[in-house]
Amino acid sequence: MPKVSDKWPRPSQSSLQRRVLRHPGRIWVLLILGSLTLNLVMIALLASLYEGEGTPGCKAERSILVAEEKKSVVAAPQQQSTAEELVSAEEISVSSTSGKRPASKDAIVNLDHGDPTMFESFWKEMGEHGDIIIPGWQAMSYFSDVTNLCWFLEPEFANEVRRLHNLVGNAVADGHFIIVGTGSTQLFQAALYALSPPDAPEPMSVVSAVPYYSSYPAVTDYLQSGLYRWAGDASMFDGDAYIELVCSPNNPDGSVREAVLKSRNGKTIHDLAYYWPQYTPITDAADHDIMLFTVSKSTGHAGTRLGWALVKDKDVAKRMIKFIELNTIGVSKDSQLRAAKILKAVSDGYELPVSQNNHRLFDFGRQLLSIRWQKLQEAVKASDIFSLPDFPLALCKFTGEKTGTYPAFAWLKCEKEEVEDCEGFLRKHNILTRSGRHFGVEPKYVRISMLDRDETFHLFIERLSTLHH
Ligand SMILES: Cc1ncc(COP(=O)(O)O)c(C=O)c1O
Repeated sequence: MPKVSDKWPRPSQSSLQRRVLRHPGRIWVLLILGSLTLNLVMIALLASLYEGEGTPGCKAERSILVAEEKKSVVAAPQQQSTAEELVSAEEISVSSTSGKRPASKDAIVNLDHGDPTMFESFWKEMGEHGDIIIPGWQAMSYFSDVTNLCWFLEPEFANEVRRLHNLVGNAVADGHFIIVGTGSTQLFQAALYALSPPDAPEPMSVVSAVPYYSSYPAVTDYLQSGLYRWAGDASMFDGDAYIELVCSPNNPDGSVREAVLKSRNGKTIHDLAYYWPQYTPITDAADHDIMLFTVSKSTGHAGTRLGWALVKDKDVAKRMIKFIELNTIGVSKDSQLRAAKILKAVSDGYELPVSQNNHRLFDFGRQLLSIRWQKLQEAVKASDIFSLPDFPLALCKFTGEKTGTYPAFAWLKCEKEEVEDCEGFLRKHNILTRSGRHFGVEPKYVRISMLDRDETFHLFIERLSTLHH
Protein backbone atom coordinates (compact mmCIF):
# COMPACT_ATOMS: atom_id res chain seq x y z
CA MET A 1 0.00 0.00 0.00
CA PRO A 2 1.55 3.32 -0.91
CA LYS A 3 1.97 5.58 2.09
CA VAL A 4 0.57 9.03 1.98
CA SER A 5 3.65 11.17 1.68
CA ASP A 6 4.56 14.62 0.56
CA LYS A 7 5.25 13.14 -2.84
CA TRP A 8 1.56 12.57 -3.43
CA PRO A 9 -0.32 15.64 -4.60
CA ARG A 10 -2.44 17.05 -1.76
CA PRO A 11 -6.13 17.67 -2.34
CA SER A 12 -6.75 21.41 -2.41
CA GLN A 13 -7.74 22.78 1.08
CA SER A 14 -10.34 25.43 1.79
CA SER A 15 -9.30 28.35 3.98
CA LEU A 16 -11.45 26.94 6.82
CA GLN A 17 -9.74 23.57 6.59
CA ARG A 18 -6.40 25.29 6.59
CA ARG A 19 -7.33 27.29 9.71
CA VAL A 20 -8.52 24.12 11.40
CA LEU A 21 -5.28 22.41 10.66
CA ARG A 22 -3.38 25.33 11.96
CA HIS A 23 -5.51 25.73 15.15
CA PRO A 24 -6.95 22.25 16.03
CA GLY A 25 -8.09 23.42 19.54
CA ARG A 26 -10.53 25.96 18.11
CA ILE A 27 -12.62 23.39 16.23
CA TRP A 28 -13.30 21.55 19.51
CA VAL A 29 -14.49 24.77 21.11
CA LEU A 30 -16.79 25.36 18.10
CA LEU A 31 -18.15 21.80 18.23
CA ILE A 32 -18.85 21.95 21.98
CA LEU A 33 -20.61 25.31 21.62
CA GLY A 34 -22.77 23.93 18.76
CA SER A 35 -23.74 20.85 20.75
CA LEU A 36 -24.63 22.97 23.81
CA THR A 37 -26.88 25.19 21.68
CA LEU A 38 -28.65 22.13 20.25
CA ASN A 39 -29.21 20.72 23.74
CA LEU A 40 -30.69 23.99 24.94
CA VAL A 41 -33.11 24.07 21.99
CA MET A 42 -34.20 20.45 22.69
CA ILE A 43 -34.76 21.16 26.42
CA ALA A 44 -36.89 24.20 25.58
CA LEU A 45 -39.00 22.12 23.15
CA LEU A 46 -39.60 19.30 25.65
CA ALA A 47 -40.45 21.76 28.42
CA SER A 48 -43.12 23.35 26.24
CA LEU A 49 -44.62 19.91 25.54
CA TYR A 50 -44.86 18.96 29.23
CA GLU A 51 -45.82 22.40 30.47
CA GLY A 52 -48.48 22.31 33.19
CA GLU A 53 -48.22 18.57 33.81
CA GLY A 54 -47.22 17.27 37.19
CA THR A 55 -46.76 13.66 38.15
CA PRO A 56 -47.17 10.85 35.56
CA GLY A 57 -50.58 10.20 37.16
CA CYS A 58 -51.73 13.73 36.39
CA LYS A 59 -50.48 13.31 32.85
CA ALA A 60 -52.68 10.27 32.35
CA GLU A 61 -55.76 12.07 33.68
CA ARG A 62 -55.07 14.99 31.38
CA SER A 63 -54.83 12.76 28.33
CA ILE A 64 -58.23 11.29 29.19
CA LEU A 65 -59.78 14.69 29.20
CA VAL A 66 -58.20 15.46 25.86
CA ALA A 67 -59.52 12.17 24.49
CA GLU A 68 -62.93 12.85 25.95
CA GLU A 69 -62.91 16.30 24.40
CA LYS A 70 -62.26 14.77 21.00
CA LYS A 71 -65.10 12.35 21.57
CA SER A 72 -67.63 15.13 21.87
CA VAL A 73 -66.80 16.31 18.37
CA VAL A 74 -68.08 13.23 16.56
CA ALA A 75 -71.46 12.36 15.09
CA ALA A 76 -73.67 15.44 15.08
CA PRO A 77 -77.30 14.68 16.01
CA GLN A 78 -79.42 13.13 13.29
CA GLN A 79 -76.54 13.30 10.83
CA GLN A 80 -75.37 10.37 8.76
CA SER A 81 -71.89 9.89 10.20
CA THR A 82 -69.08 8.04 8.50
CA ALA A 83 -68.09 4.62 9.80
CA GLU A 84 -64.67 5.98 10.71
CA GLU A 85 -66.08 8.69 12.98
CA LEU A 86 -68.37 6.27 14.74
CA VAL A 87 -65.70 3.65 15.31
CA SER A 88 -63.26 6.18 16.73
CA ALA A 89 -66.01 7.43 19.03
CA GLU A 90 -66.20 3.97 20.57
CA GLU A 91 -62.45 3.42 20.70
CA ILE A 92 -61.50 6.54 22.60
CA SER A 93 -64.12 5.98 25.22
CA VAL A 94 -61.66 3.58 26.90
CA SER A 95 -59.54 5.65 29.25
CA SER A 96 -57.18 5.13 32.18
CA THR A 97 -60.06 5.52 34.66
CA SER A 98 -62.17 2.80 32.95
CA GLY A 99 -62.97 -0.06 35.32
CA LYS A 100 -61.09 1.57 38.24
CA ARG A 101 -62.20 2.81 41.64
CA PRO A 102 -61.86 6.58 42.15
CA ALA A 103 -58.67 7.14 44.16
CA SER A 104 -59.68 10.36 45.93
CA LYS A 105 -62.65 12.61 46.60
CA ASP A 106 -61.93 14.78 43.59
CA ALA A 107 -60.94 11.98 41.23
CA ILE A 108 -62.56 11.51 37.85
CA VAL A 109 -65.87 9.64 38.12
CA ASN A 110 -66.09 7.53 34.99
CA LEU A 111 -69.68 6.50 34.24
CA ASP A 112 -69.27 6.43 30.48
CA HIS A 113 -69.45 2.64 30.13
CA GLY A 114 -72.08 0.24 31.34
CA ASP A 115 -69.46 -1.72 33.30
CA PRO A 116 -71.57 -3.82 35.69
CA THR A 117 -69.16 -3.83 38.65
CA MET A 118 -71.97 -3.22 41.18
CA PHE A 119 -72.60 -7.00 41.06
CA GLU A 120 -69.12 -7.82 42.42
CA SER A 121 -70.28 -7.53 46.04
CA PHE A 122 -73.12 -10.00 45.38
CA TRP A 123 -70.75 -12.57 43.92
CA LYS A 124 -68.31 -12.12 46.82
CA GLU A 125 -71.16 -12.99 49.17
CA MET A 126 -72.16 -15.94 46.98
CA GLY A 127 -68.79 -17.55 47.68
CA GLU A 128 -68.03 -20.97 46.27
CA HIS A 129 -71.44 -21.45 44.63
CA GLY A 130 -70.06 -19.30 41.80
CA ASP A 131 -66.57 -20.83 41.63
CA ILE A 132 -65.29 -23.33 39.10
CA ILE A 133 -62.09 -25.28 38.65
CA ILE A 134 -61.20 -26.44 35.17
CA PRO A 135 -58.53 -29.19 35.15
CA GLY A 136 -55.72 -28.63 32.66
CA TRP A 137 -56.85 -31.51 30.45
CA GLN A 138 -60.49 -30.49 30.25
CA ALA A 139 -62.34 -28.46 27.56
CA MET A 140 -59.47 -28.79 25.09
CA SER A 141 -61.31 -29.87 21.97
CA TYR A 142 -62.90 -27.40 19.53
CA PHE A 143 -66.10 -29.41 19.70
CA SER A 144 -68.77 -29.39 22.39
CA ASP A 145 -71.75 -31.36 21.08
CA VAL A 146 -71.67 -32.40 17.43
CA THR A 147 -75.28 -33.66 17.66
CA ASN A 148 -76.40 -30.07 18.24
CA LEU A 149 -76.85 -27.63 15.32
CA CYS A 150 -74.69 -25.27 17.40
CA TRP A 151 -71.80 -27.72 17.73
CA PHE A 152 -69.73 -25.39 19.93
CA LEU A 153 -72.50 -24.96 22.53
CA GLU A 154 -71.69 -26.60 25.89
CA PRO A 155 -74.75 -28.67 26.93
CA GLU A 156 -74.38 -27.55 30.56
CA PHE A 157 -74.59 -23.92 29.55
CA ALA A 158 -77.60 -24.54 27.27
CA ASN A 159 -79.43 -26.33 30.12
CA GLU A 160 -78.83 -23.47 32.53
CA VAL A 161 -80.00 -20.91 29.94
CA ARG A 162 -83.31 -22.78 29.50
CA ARG A 163 -83.67 -23.26 33.24
CA LEU A 164 -83.15 -19.54 33.95
CA HIS A 165 -85.65 -18.39 31.29
CA ASN A 166 -88.20 -20.82 32.69
CA LEU A 167 -87.60 -19.52 36.19
CA VAL A 168 -87.76 -15.80 35.32
CA GLY A 169 -90.38 -16.09 32.59
CA ASN A 170 -88.77 -13.32 30.50
CA ALA A 171 -88.44 -15.28 27.25
CA VAL A 172 -89.74 -18.39 25.56
CA ALA A 173 -86.74 -20.65 25.14
CA ASP A 174 -88.69 -23.70 23.97
CA GLY A 175 -89.01 -23.92 20.20
CA HIS A 176 -85.91 -21.75 19.82
CA PHE A 177 -82.36 -22.76 18.96
CA ILE A 178 -79.80 -21.55 21.49
CA ILE A 179 -76.67 -20.07 19.94
CA VAL A 180 -73.79 -19.03 22.14
CA GLY A 181 -71.60 -16.06 21.25
CA THR A 182 -68.58 -14.11 22.45
CA GLY A 183 -70.79 -11.54 24.11
CA SER A 184 -74.06 -10.59 22.55
CA THR A 185 -71.94 -8.23 20.43
CA GLN A 186 -70.78 -11.19 18.34
CA LEU A 187 -74.32 -12.55 18.12
CA PHE A 188 -75.57 -9.20 16.91
CA GLN A 189 -73.11 -9.34 14.02
CA ALA A 190 -73.96 -12.99 13.38
CA ALA A 191 -77.63 -12.01 13.14
CA LEU A 192 -76.90 -9.17 10.68
CA TYR A 193 -74.95 -11.64 8.54
CA ALA A 194 -77.73 -14.23 8.75
CA LEU A 195 -80.52 -11.83 7.86
CA SER A 196 -78.81 -10.13 4.90
CA PRO A 197 -79.35 -11.89 1.56
CA PRO A 198 -75.91 -12.65 0.06
CA ASP A 199 -77.00 -11.76 -3.49
CA ALA A 200 -78.95 -8.51 -2.93
CA PRO A 201 -78.02 -5.63 -5.27
CA GLU A 202 -77.74 -3.25 -2.31
CA PRO A 203 -76.54 -3.72 1.27
CA MET A 204 -79.41 -4.30 3.71
CA SER A 205 -80.39 -1.21 5.73
CA VAL A 206 -79.91 -1.57 9.49
CA VAL A 207 -82.03 0.79 11.59
CA SER A 208 -83.06 1.45 15.19
CA ALA A 209 -85.28 4.11 16.72
CA VAL A 210 -83.48 7.00 18.44
CA PRO A 211 -82.08 7.10 20.99
CA TYR A 212 -80.37 3.84 19.98
CA TYR A 213 -77.53 1.95 21.66
CA SER A 214 -74.33 3.71 20.59
CA SER A 215 -72.60 0.50 19.48
CA TYR A 216 -75.21 -0.35 16.83
CA PRO A 217 -73.97 2.09 14.15
CA ALA A 218 -70.30 1.51 14.97
CA VAL A 219 -70.48 -2.29 14.97
CA THR A 220 -72.66 -2.36 11.84
CA ASP A 221 -70.31 -0.24 9.77
CA TYR A 222 -66.79 -0.90 11.00
CA LEU A 223 -66.02 -3.54 8.37
CA GLN A 224 -67.93 -1.69 5.64
CA SER A 225 -69.67 -4.90 4.68
CA GLY A 226 -71.32 -5.22 1.31
CA LEU A 227 -74.14 -7.15 3.00
CA TYR A 228 -75.55 -4.49 5.32
CA ARG A 229 -75.05 -0.89 6.32
CA TRP A 230 -76.23 1.47 9.03
CA ALA A 231 -79.23 3.56 7.92
CA GLY A 232 -80.00 5.48 11.13
CA ASP A 233 -83.26 6.22 12.92
CA ALA A 234 -85.92 3.56 12.27
CA SER A 235 -88.72 6.15 12.57
CA MET A 236 -87.30 8.10 9.62
CA PHE A 237 -86.77 5.05 7.39
CA ASP A 238 -89.12 4.64 4.44
CA GLY A 239 -87.81 1.59 2.58
CA ASP A 240 -89.30 -1.88 2.47
CA ALA A 241 -86.34 -4.15 3.26
CA TYR A 242 -84.47 -3.53 6.50
CA ILE A 243 -83.20 -5.03 9.72
CA GLU A 244 -84.63 -3.22 12.74
CA LEU A 245 -82.83 -3.45 16.07
CA VAL A 246 -85.23 -3.30 18.97
CA CYS A 247 -83.57 -2.88 22.35
CA SER A 248 -86.00 -3.37 25.23
CA PRO A 249 -85.68 -2.07 27.90
CA ASN A 250 -83.76 0.40 25.82
CA ASN A 251 -80.14 1.39 26.23
CA PRO A 252 -79.82 4.40 26.83
CA ASP A 253 -83.23 5.58 28.11
CA GLY A 254 -84.73 2.47 29.78
CA SER A 255 -87.99 2.62 27.81
CA VAL A 256 -89.88 -0.56 26.95
CA ARG A 257 -89.96 -0.85 23.17
CA GLU A 258 -91.53 -2.59 20.22
CA ALA A 259 -90.53 -2.51 16.57
CA VAL A 260 -91.53 0.78 14.93
CA LEU A 261 -91.45 -0.61 11.35
CA LYS A 262 -93.86 -3.26 10.13
CA SER A 263 -93.13 -4.46 6.62
CA ARG A 264 -93.33 -8.03 5.37
CA ASN A 265 -89.79 -7.79 4.03
CA GLY A 266 -88.43 -6.29 7.21
CA LYS A 267 -86.61 -8.32 9.86
CA THR A 268 -86.14 -7.60 13.55
CA ILE A 269 -83.49 -8.43 16.10
CA HIS A 270 -84.64 -8.05 19.70
CA ASP A 271 -81.82 -7.10 22.02
CA LEU A 272 -83.14 -8.08 25.45
CA ALA A 273 -79.90 -7.54 27.38
CA TYR A 274 -81.80 -5.66 30.13
CA TYR A 275 -85.01 -7.68 30.23
CA TRP A 276 -84.29 -9.01 33.72
CA PRO A 277 -86.16 -8.42 36.99
CA GLN A 278 -83.50 -6.16 38.56
CA TYR A 279 -84.12 -3.54 35.88
CA THR A 280 -87.74 -3.80 34.84
CA PRO A 281 -90.99 -5.60 35.65
CA ILE A 282 -91.25 -8.87 33.71
CA THR A 283 -94.63 -8.39 32.07
CA ASP A 284 -94.53 -11.27 29.55
CA ALA A 285 -92.35 -14.00 28.16
CA ALA A 286 -90.83 -12.50 24.99
CA ASP A 287 -91.29 -14.72 21.97
CA HIS A 288 -89.54 -13.07 19.01
CA ASP A 289 -87.67 -14.52 16.03
CA ILE A 290 -84.23 -13.51 17.27
CA MET A 291 -83.64 -12.55 20.91
CA LEU A 292 -80.23 -11.63 22.31
CA PHE A 293 -79.13 -11.94 25.92
CA THR A 294 -75.82 -11.55 27.72
CA VAL A 295 -74.26 -12.44 31.06
CA SER A 296 -72.79 -8.90 31.12
CA LYS A 297 -76.10 -7.41 32.17
CA SER A 298 -77.98 -10.37 33.61
CA THR A 299 -75.39 -11.47 36.20
CA GLY A 300 -72.72 -8.74 35.84
CA HIS A 301 -70.06 -11.00 34.23
CA ALA A 302 -69.08 -8.68 31.38
CA GLY A 303 -65.52 -10.01 31.40
CA THR A 304 -66.66 -13.56 30.67
CA ARG A 305 -67.69 -12.25 27.24
CA LEU A 306 -70.62 -14.55 26.82
CA GLY A 307 -74.03 -14.07 25.31
CA TRP A 308 -76.74 -16.25 23.84
CA ALA A 309 -79.34 -15.93 21.15
CA LEU A 310 -82.74 -17.63 21.03
CA VAL A 311 -83.55 -18.13 17.36
CA LYS A 312 -86.77 -19.51 15.89
CA ASP A 313 -85.87 -20.18 12.28
CA LYS A 314 -83.49 -23.06 11.58
CA ASP A 315 -81.91 -21.50 8.46
CA VAL A 316 -81.26 -18.24 10.25
CA ALA A 317 -79.77 -20.19 13.16
CA LYS A 318 -77.53 -22.11 10.72
CA ARG A 319 -76.23 -18.91 9.16
CA MET A 320 -75.55 -17.37 12.56
CA ILE A 321 -73.63 -20.49 13.55
CA LYS A 322 -71.69 -20.28 10.27
CA PHE A 323 -70.73 -16.70 11.06
CA ILE A 324 -69.36 -17.67 14.48
CA GLU A 325 -67.57 -20.66 12.93
CA LEU A 326 -65.84 -18.38 10.42
CA ASN A 327 -65.29 -15.55 12.85
CA THR A 328 -63.87 -17.39 15.91
CA ILE A 329 -64.32 -21.16 15.28
CA GLY A 330 -66.78 -21.37 18.13
CA VAL A 331 -66.87 -19.74 21.56
CA SER A 332 -64.61 -20.24 24.59
CA LYS A 333 -65.57 -23.40 26.45
CA ASP A 334 -63.96 -22.06 29.62
CA SER A 335 -66.33 -19.11 29.51
CA GLN A 336 -69.32 -21.33 28.85
CA LEU A 337 -68.47 -23.57 31.81
CA ARG A 338 -68.04 -20.56 34.05
CA ALA A 339 -71.28 -18.99 32.82
CA ALA A 340 -73.11 -22.29 33.32
CA LYS A 341 -71.97 -22.31 36.96
CA ILE A 342 -72.96 -18.66 37.40
CA LEU A 343 -76.45 -19.16 35.91
CA LYS A 344 -76.87 -22.31 37.99
CA ALA A 345 -76.03 -20.38 41.17
CA VAL A 346 -78.65 -17.75 40.22
CA SER A 347 -81.40 -20.32 39.63
CA ASP A 348 -80.40 -22.32 42.72
CA GLY A 349 -80.81 -19.14 44.77
CA TYR A 350 -84.52 -19.22 43.93
CA GLU A 351 -85.14 -22.93 43.57
CA LEU A 352 -83.13 -24.60 46.34
CA PRO A 353 -84.01 -24.46 50.02
CA VAL A 354 -82.60 -21.35 51.71
CA SER A 355 -80.27 -23.57 53.74
CA GLN A 356 -78.46 -24.56 50.54
CA ASN A 357 -78.33 -21.23 48.74
CA ASN A 358 -79.95 -18.05 49.99
CA HIS A 359 -78.38 -15.62 47.53
CA ARG A 360 -80.96 -14.03 45.27
CA LEU A 361 -79.38 -12.03 42.48
CA PHE A 362 -82.46 -10.27 41.14
CA ASP A 363 -83.55 -9.18 44.63
CA PHE A 364 -80.06 -7.84 45.30
CA GLY A 365 -79.95 -5.97 41.98
CA ARG A 366 -83.44 -4.52 42.27
CA GLN A 367 -82.92 -3.33 45.87
CA LEU A 368 -79.59 -1.69 45.14
CA LEU A 369 -80.79 -0.07 41.93
CA SER A 370 -83.99 1.22 43.54
CA ILE A 371 -81.92 2.92 46.28
CA ARG A 372 -79.56 4.37 43.67
CA TRP A 373 -82.43 5.67 41.55
CA GLN A 374 -83.98 7.33 44.57
CA LYS A 375 -80.69 9.04 45.42
CA LEU A 376 -80.23 10.16 41.84
CA GLN A 377 -83.78 11.49 41.60
CA GLU A 378 -83.29 13.49 44.80
CA ALA A 379 -80.00 14.96 43.60
CA VAL A 380 -81.49 15.83 40.21
CA LYS A 381 -84.51 17.50 41.80
CA ALA A 382 -82.34 19.53 44.16
CA SER A 383 -80.06 20.66 41.32
CA ASP A 384 -82.83 22.28 39.27
CA ILE A 385 -80.55 21.88 36.22
CA PHE A 386 -81.34 18.35 35.06
CA SER A 387 -84.32 16.13 34.37
CA LEU A 388 -84.87 12.37 34.12
CA PRO A 389 -87.54 10.30 32.36
CA ASP A 390 -90.47 8.92 34.39
CA PHE A 391 -91.27 5.22 34.45
CA PRO A 392 -94.65 3.64 35.12
CA LEU A 393 -95.17 0.87 37.68
CA ALA A 394 -96.21 -2.52 36.31
CA LEU A 395 -97.05 -5.97 37.56
CA CYS A 396 -93.94 -8.13 37.48
CA LYS A 397 -94.85 -11.75 36.81
CA PHE A 398 -91.56 -12.88 38.31
CA THR A 399 -91.98 -11.20 41.71
CA GLY A 400 -95.79 -11.22 41.63
CA GLU A 401 -95.73 -7.58 42.73
CA LYS A 402 -96.35 -4.21 41.16
CA THR A 403 -92.85 -2.87 40.78
CA GLY A 404 -90.94 0.11 39.43
CA THR A 405 -88.39 0.36 36.63
CA TYR A 406 -84.74 0.86 37.57
CA PRO A 407 -82.77 1.07 34.33
CA ALA A 408 -79.08 0.29 34.05
CA PHE A 409 -78.52 3.81 32.70
CA ALA A 410 -79.80 7.23 33.63
CA TRP A 411 -80.78 9.28 30.59
CA LEU A 412 -80.13 12.73 31.94
CA LYS A 413 -81.19 15.91 30.20
CA CYS A 414 -79.51 19.23 30.93
CA GLU A 415 -82.30 21.80 31.22
CA LYS A 416 -79.94 24.75 31.67
CA GLU A 417 -80.60 26.92 28.63
CA GLU A 418 -77.04 28.04 28.12
CA VAL A 419 -75.68 24.46 28.23
CA GLU A 420 -75.95 22.73 24.86
CA ASP A 421 -73.32 20.09 25.57
CA CYS A 422 -74.25 18.26 28.76
CA GLU A 423 -71.38 15.79 28.48
CA GLY A 424 -68.89 18.69 28.26
CA PHE A 425 -70.58 20.43 31.18
CA LEU A 426 -70.30 17.36 33.43
CA ARG A 427 -66.76 16.67 32.23
CA LYS A 428 -65.73 20.05 33.64
CA HIS A 429 -66.80 18.62 37.01
CA ASN A 430 -64.77 15.45 36.40
CA ILE A 431 -67.82 13.31 35.66
CA LEU A 432 -67.45 11.28 32.46
CA THR A 433 -70.68 10.34 30.71
CA ARG A 434 -71.69 9.54 27.12
CA SER A 435 -73.18 12.32 25.02
CA GLY A 436 -76.59 12.03 23.38
CA ARG A 437 -74.81 12.44 20.02
CA HIS A 438 -73.65 8.83 20.21
CA PHE A 439 -77.26 7.72 20.48
CA GLY A 440 -78.49 9.79 17.53
CA VAL A 441 -79.93 12.70 19.53
CA GLU A 442 -79.01 16.16 20.84
CA PRO A 443 -76.02 16.69 23.14
CA LYS A 444 -78.38 18.09 25.77
CA TYR A 445 -78.72 14.46 26.83
CA VAL A 446 -76.14 12.19 28.42
CA ARG A 447 -76.16 8.54 29.38
CA ILE A 448 -74.85 7.69 32.85
CA SER A 449 -74.11 4.18 34.06
CA MET A 450 -75.98 3.15 37.21
CA LEU A 451 -74.06 -0.13 37.44
CA ASP A 452 -70.72 0.94 38.87
CA ARG A 453 -69.32 0.12 42.31
CA ASP A 454 -70.74 1.82 45.42
CA GLU A 455 -67.74 4.16 45.90
CA THR A 456 -68.03 5.49 42.36
CA PHE A 457 -71.78 5.90 42.52
CA HIS A 458 -71.67 7.71 45.89
CA LEU A 459 -68.96 10.05 44.67
CA PHE A 460 -71.07 10.79 41.60
CA ILE A 461 -74.15 11.66 43.70
CA GLU A 462 -72.03 13.77 46.04
CA ARG A 463 -70.60 15.72 43.14
CA LEU A 464 -73.91 16.07 41.36
CA SER A 465 -75.40 17.49 44.54
CA THR A 466 -72.92 20.38 44.44
CA LEU A 467 -74.21 21.51 41.05
CA HIS A 468 -76.97 24.07 41.27
CA HIS A 469 -78.69 26.56 39.02
C1 LIG B 1 -78.21 -3.21 24.61
C2 LIG B 1 -76.91 -3.91 24.69
N1 LIG B 1 -76.68 -4.95 23.90
C3 LIG B 1 -75.51 -5.59 23.93
C4 LIG B 1 -74.50 -5.19 24.76
C5 LIG B 1 -73.17 -5.89 24.72
O1 LIG B 1 -73.20 -7.04 25.44
P1 LIG B 1 -71.93 -8.00 25.51
O2 LIG B 1 -71.09 -7.51 26.64
O3 LIG B 1 -72.51 -9.32 25.80
O4 LIG B 1 -71.23 -7.96 24.21
C6 LIG B 1 -74.68 -4.11 25.60
C7 LIG B 1 -73.61 -3.68 26.47
O5 LIG B 1 -73.58 -2.60 27.02
C8 LIG B 1 -75.92 -3.46 25.57
O6 LIG B 1 -76.15 -2.39 26.33
